[in-house]
Amino acid sequence: MVITDKISIQKTGASRLNQVDFSNIPFGKIYTDHMFLADYKNGAWSNQRIIPYGYMPISPATPALHYGQSIFEGMKAIRNDKDEVLIFRPYDNWQRLNKSGYRMCMPHLPEEIFVEGLRTLLDLDKNWIPKTEGSSLYIRPFMYSADEYIGIRPSENFTFQIILCPVGAYYSTPVKVKVETHYTRAVAGGTGYAKAGGNYGGAIYPAKLAQDRGYHQLIWTDGIEHKYIEESGTMNVMFVINNKLVTPALSDSILAGITRDSVLKLAKHLGIQTEERKISVQELREGLENGSVTEAFGAGTAATIAHIELVGFDDKDIYLPPIENRKISNLIYKELDAIKRGNAPDPFMWLAKW
Ligand SMILES: Cc1ncc(COP(=O)(O)O)c(C=O)c1O
Repeated sequence: MVITDKISIQKTGASRLNQVDFSNIPFGKIYTDHMFLADYKNGAWSNQRIIPYGYMPISPATPALHYGQSIFEGMKAIRNDKDEVLIFRPYDNWQRLNKSGYRMCMPHLPEEIFVEGLRTLLDLDKNWIPKTEGSSLYIRPFMYSADEYIGIRPSENFTFQIILCPVGAYYSTPVKVKVETHYTRAVAGGTGYAKAGGNYGGAIYPAKLAQDRGYHQLIWTDGIEHKYIEESGTMNVMFVINNKLVTPALSDSILAGITRDSVLKLAKHLGIQTEERKISVQELREGLENGSVTEAFGAGTAATIAHIELVGFDDKDIYLPPIENRKISNLIYKELDAIKRGNAPDPFMWLAKW
């Protein structure tokens, strides 16, 4: 892949940084001063640039708008006391972006564009990275088709972009989830394993129905029989069953979460037994009823480790034991957070220090 240029930088003349109340940051609503873009044209990436964050002209005929040819990533950075920027597993996000892109017929993005684009952008907007406990900078890389053509065919032009937003906690309380046995997020052979925009657009309606009934999120089940647990809206799900940490095995209808992978590796490192296998809705329900399921949580970049307070089934809700009794998930949360903040050894070399 030929990269024909280096990054040009146009700085904002009017920073918005002093308008932000870092003690109260809503998730996903505040964006930093700058954004990174690169264009794919004539078979090559070029025009790498950083410009002030803002609205962009876009063709009304772009296939990203009509057919959802768009993919994205989500990762987080924090700033430590030494003013170093710590990013958790960014190379894994780069690899997953390309995996998603392959499925969506989009061009490979070279590591250099992802890493140098992000590094330069973070350097410019470093003062936006919150230092407060529980807060971080959410990084949203994304790529979309930028052809001006409303026929359906592989596109020729794409834009890769990175925007940044300082964020507080995604969920401020333990979450209530409903097991979804009617609607489907993804099926075998589909795009569930890709972080493709359409997967999320199609999930909004069923999630809203659950939210109207007081749940925060859904737990999706397999799209064929609705018998097996898959994952949640923006998190993989994990359970402690008879003292083992159990999570659904990956498939092409489940997103391979980087947090999921980190939790599994860390748990093994801490001597906790782990299992990746099918978990049926029936097993989960019976386990919650007979007390063999003692902990449940979602694992994802945005939500980190989100304790599940109750699981809703079609006819009833079942509460889990109190959060303070959840030894395994509390331990994993603490250890993972310490690694992410650079406060503990990093045996897996997950942190990038930029
Ligand atoms: C559908 C889905 N599952 C799981 C996850 C968790 O993935 P990660 O830990 O890489 O953020 C996400 C978030 O990216 C997601 O959107």
